[in-house]
Amino acid sequence: MPSPTRLVVLVSGSGTNLQALLDACADESYGAKVVAVGADREDIAGLTRAEAAGVPTFTAKVKDYTSREHWDRALADKVGAFEPDVVVLAGFMKLVGTTFLDAFGGRTVNTHPALSPSFPGMHGPREALEYGVKVTGATLFIVDAGVDTGAIVAQTAVPVDDDDTEATLHERIKVAERAMLVDAVGKMAREGFSVEGRRVRFGG
Ligand code: GAR
Repeated sequence: MPSPTRLVVLVSGSGTNLQALLDACADESYGAKVVAVGADREDIAGLTRAEAAGVPTFTAKVKDYTSREHWDRALADKVGAFEPDVVVLAGFMKLVGTTFLDAFGGRTVNTHPALSPSFPGMHGPREALEYGVKVTGATLFIVDAGVDTGAIVAQTAVPVDDDDTEATLHERIKVAERAMLVDAVGKMAREGFSVEGRRVRFGG
């Protein structure tokens, strides 16, 4: 069996998407391995999940650096130390910068709780609800310099219920989002992928 694709996962919160990846990676046939988990803050469930799985962790907090650019370089260095093939932003609530993208652009994916190009930013579920859409979902995309603008790797649709709140809708999106993330990252690992303009394809 070929050696597993090395994943570094970045988190900022509860880390349920990370957990789904950790669980998938427990099966050798999945084709990927989480080699490290990084965060932009301490004391979050995402880091505890990594520790429980025996995965090395690191943090890079913006306020510990003199500028956003220094933070970005430090983050890129810390991620690079684990020699990832693919970087997964899984609920990572920071925009990465130029240095990070120079190092890992084209092989960093982010999961977003809305159907791109609708509702980019921090409040995808809330804005979908406010807009009154009947279907929303989650999008996995290749990170670029914009806010949730990168080429789309995978999407999953979730119906909006009449009595949804932001919390119930986001929780239902997250169920579909975790399945999408595990499926798409597994395909990237086992089949490879290519990015041509805005088109992402699995396979060599
Ligand atoms: C996920 O729904 C993810 O899409 C979202 O945060 C949640 C993290 O959940 N990310 C963003 O909104 C980024 N803009 P988790 O910590 O339980 O995986």
